Formats: sequence, C-alpha cells, structure tokens
Amino acid sequence: MSDFINQIERRRTFAIISHPDAGKTTLTEKLLLYGGAIRMAGSVKARKTAKHAVSDWMEIEKQRGISVTSSVMQFNYGGKCINILDTPGHQDFSEDTYRTLMAADNAVMVLDGAKGVEAQTRKLFHVCSIREIPIFTFVNKMDRETKDPFELMDELENELGIKSYPMNWPIGCGLNFKGIYDREKRVVRVFKGGNHGQSKAEVSEMYLEDEATKEFIGDDLYNKLMEDIELLDMAGEDFDMEKVKNGSLTPVFFGSAITNFGVQTFLEDFLTITTPPLSRMSDVGEIDAFDKEFSAFVFKIQANMNKAHRDRIAFMRICSGKFEKGMEVYHVQGKNKIKLSQPQQFLAQEREIVEEAYAGDIIGVFDPGIFRIGDTLCEASKKFKFEGIPVFAPEHFSRVRPVDTMKRKQFVKGITQISQEGAIQVFREPHIGAEELIVGVVGVLQFEVLEYRLKNEYNVDIKLERLPFRNIRWIEECNGEVSSLSVTSDTKIVEDLKGRSLLLFQTDWGISWALEHNKGLVLSAIAKSE
Ligand code: G4P
Repeated sequence: MSDFINQIERRRTFAIISHPDAGKTTLTEKLLLYGGAIRMAGSVKARKTAKHAVSDWMEIEKQRGISVTSSVMQFNYGGKCINILDTPGHQDFSEDTYRTLMAADNAVMVLDGAKGVEAQTRKLFHVCSIREIPIFTFVNKMDRETKDPFELMDELENELGIKSYPMNWPIGCGLNFKGIYDREKRVVRVFKGGNHGQSKAEVSEMYLEDEATKEFIGDDLYNKLMEDIELLDMAGEDFDMEKVKNGSLTPVFFGSAITNFGVQTFLEDFLTITTPPLSRMSDVGEIDAFDKEFSAFVFKIQANMNKAHRDRIAFMRICSGKFEKGMEVYHVQGKNKIKLSQPQQFLAQEREIVEEAYAGDIIGVFDPGIFRIGDTLCEASKKFKFEGIPVFAPEHFSRVRPVDTMKRKQFVKGITQISQEGAIQVFREPHIGAEELIVGVVGVLQFEVLEYRLKNEYNVDIKLERLPFRNIRWIEECNGEVSSLSVTSDTKIVEDLKGRSLLLFQTDWGISWALEHNKGLVLSAIAKSE
C-alpha cells in the first residue's frame, strides 16, 4: 500500500456529542491519555474550567490571541491517526457546535447512565442523523447508580428513533460496578488501578464460564448477567455493519470515564468498526477521500478577539488528497488561486505549523476575510463545489440597535462581518431600516460576544432587547404573498440577509397553527446554504 493510501486509510475523524455534564470532557481527556497525547489527565478539564465565565473567556481569548486549541485534537493509537473535533457546549454552545458535526465522519454520543437521553443530546443527535453518519454510544458514569441498561436502550429507540446493539454489557453499577462483558469475545473484563483516573486502568480478562469469574462477580450479579445475555441474544438486534454505517443502528458501550474503566475497550472497538474518511457530495458528484487531488471545505471561522490582529482563522476539513505546506489551491467561491499560508494543526495542548495533512484532517489557516462558511478549496483544474453547510435555526432572539444613531454605518458593517463568520444570524423586519435588526443565536453567549466585539472592534455600543421568540422557520413554499399569510398575533414575518422569508414563533403551537391555516405552506428548521 502506498504511503498516501495508508495515511488516509488510517484516519478516523469524529465528534463527541453530549448533554452538558454527561462526561464529554472527561472522556475526551481519557482518549487522549490512552493515545499518549497527554500524560496526566486533567488538562482538557483545566481548559474547560478556564472557560467558566464569559468575562474570563474574553480575557483568555485576548491573551491567547485566538482560541484554537479547542477545535480539534489529533493523536495516534494502534496505528490509527485520530482527529477528535470539539463540539462547543455549555455556555459556548453555538451554531459552530452544529457545523462541527458537518466535518466529522462519525459521532460518539456520551450519555450519563443515570439520566439517559437529555435535551442537548437530542438536538445534536438530530443534526448527526440528517447526515446519516455512524453514531456510537458511550454510556458513562457506570460507577454511579444508573438506569437499567435495557431501559436506556428503549430510550434510544423511543426518543431518538435509533436501534442499538450493545457491544458490551455492564456488570452491576455504582459501588457494585464490577466490569463489562464483551459480547463478541465472550469474556468479562474487570478493571483495577488507574490511580483514580489519572493513569490507564489495568484490565484483566476472565472467561464467562469460569468458576473464578462467578466467584469474583458474586452469585446475584452473575445470574443477572447470564439472564441479560440470554435476553440480548434472543430479543436484541443483530449487529449489522450497513445499519451502523448509515446511522440507523448505534453500537453501545458502557464504562466510567472518570475511572478509565471501559475506555480502552471502547477506543479499540470503535477504531475497528469505524471506517476511513468518507466521500463527500459535490456539484460534480461524490469526491472520494482517496482521490489524489486535494480538496477541502471551510466549516468554521473563528475571529481573533485581539484588536491588534483583525485576522481570523478558517478551519477546513480536508476531504480528499494531501495537503502540503505552502501549496497553492483554488478558492472556488472567491474565484482565485491562493496560497495556504501558515496552516496549523492542533495537538492536545499546543498548535503547530503543519507540513502535511491528509483527507480526514482539519487544518486552520489565517484568513484575511476572504472565506465564508461552506467554501470549497480544490485544485485549479477541478473547480467543483462541495454541498453547502446548512444554516441551523437559532433559538434565542434579540432586537439590536446602536446606542448612537450616528454610528449606523459601523454597526451594519460590524454586524454583517460577524454574521459572515457564522456566529450570529441577522434578520430584518419589513419596513424597518438597517439601524434596527433582529439577531438570532443558537447559544445565548453569542449575544455577549456580539456586544463585546461591536464595542471593541467597531467602536459601537449597542442596545440589546431580548425577544420572546423561541422558534424560527424558513418558508420553503407558500401559496401567494408571504405578507398575507394567516398567522397568530405573536408570530412575526422577517427576512434574512439573503432575502429569504421566515416566520418567528413564540410557541410550537404557533407553528402548528400556521401550518393548519395556510394550505401549501412548507416550513423548514434548516436552510440549505448555497
Ligand atoms: P461535559 O464535558 O460533558 O460537560 O462533562 P465533564 O466531563 O466535565 O463531566 C461532568 C462531571 O461529571 C464532572 O464532575 C466529572 O468529573 C463527572 N464525571 C465524568 N465522568 C464520570 C464518570 O464516569 N463517573 C462519575 N462518577 N463522574 C463522572 P464535576 O463535579 O462537575 O467536576 P469535577 O469536580 O469532578 O472536576
């Protein structure tokens, strides 16, 4: 196998999704620990804690110039090169969280064993399921009292509509968490050591049928395990790789990230099941990851919070071929050739200049303001465009205007630029001038970032007034004029900056009402970007 093919073959690119506090940070850190990228667990966590308050976050952004370490982490394990894409959560939950999922080939969904499927899991799962990518489930916190594993599987099916196949099965939980049973190898794995999660756990394997296993687990748990296994084998789903690949069957793993129990098993099985980078759809058909020619698309643009450096970093996912430092590529939307200067890649701790990167990898390049989310870069002889990244419906809205009306021009400029980076979405009300806009965001922190940036970068103070809307829908089809739609009195008709019409709703009921009372009306929570 040529080195080129081998390099792409060994790439695995995935995002971890979860509801806050389920253990995404802890699991990421433990995967890095097993990959040798960090010696002592604790540094990913430190980064998260450092992000705690908005003011701290701004301060960090300023000092560091730009927040990049959180975007992607690369490490090697078992001959594979793994890229973990960070999906911002908590206060910094934003549209970037969704867009990052567009750059991943697989998703790992972390559930808190006691809580099961939660609100944010649902949202993120939905975005993954649109793409029909493989989704792996890690049921975390087995060292605590959890729900019954069968109940968790029912939840996956009933709440998310995905069938599950447990790759392993927990033996007890909480203080009685003894280990896991590997269904394929028919062995019980018990864990020891791990220095409270600081270092790797010691794993010993025992055969299910051995007397010593029964003795170790105890009669009650052993009998329960045997019953569970029988039930799973008889009534459970069969493992079907095709269903895993199209995201309709999720392999489920159990463990405890904090103690490292089950982490290595998960990592190894995950790497065996996942495939190398997937091909991507473009306007000239599918682009294969193993194509010799380089191609990539921009999925995230991060502004520099430092006033002295107005540049931004554009993060791109390499979709095919090989990238080499200083290489000249064609920027399709900009219609010109550009040299990708100072490309960077990110390890667990620091960023470094990359010499080469392959399909599946993420690189960040300095962007003097030429890139937009979804842009394609490829060889000049090709000039194709990857399918655009959808625009996701924001969930929080504010009316925004400059305090000083004389600053209208800077206000519009600033808000337009910030919206181009994709941090906010801007809407206009018909018959109202550009000095008063409606801003929609996926995560509320973005309002504070907007206020901060307009003041610091554009010297504009703004007045922000929160609006009670909760849902927005693009109007895909409608009989007659949008202005004559029959809607409830608390529904507002707006336009985005591309001139598309949308409806803002305060309740879900408002949406149903609009659909019931307007024949032929088709609404969408996701807009295809062109
Ligand atoms: P997140 O990124 O998904 O938000 O979750 P994070 O890893 O930060 O974990 C949230 C909390 O759950 C943390 O506790 C963490 O230590 C704990 N946790 C993670 N994995 C496990 C696990 O397997 N078992 C148990 N029992 N707890 C787990 P915290 O109190 O918020 O922080 P800390 O004081 O422990 O640092």
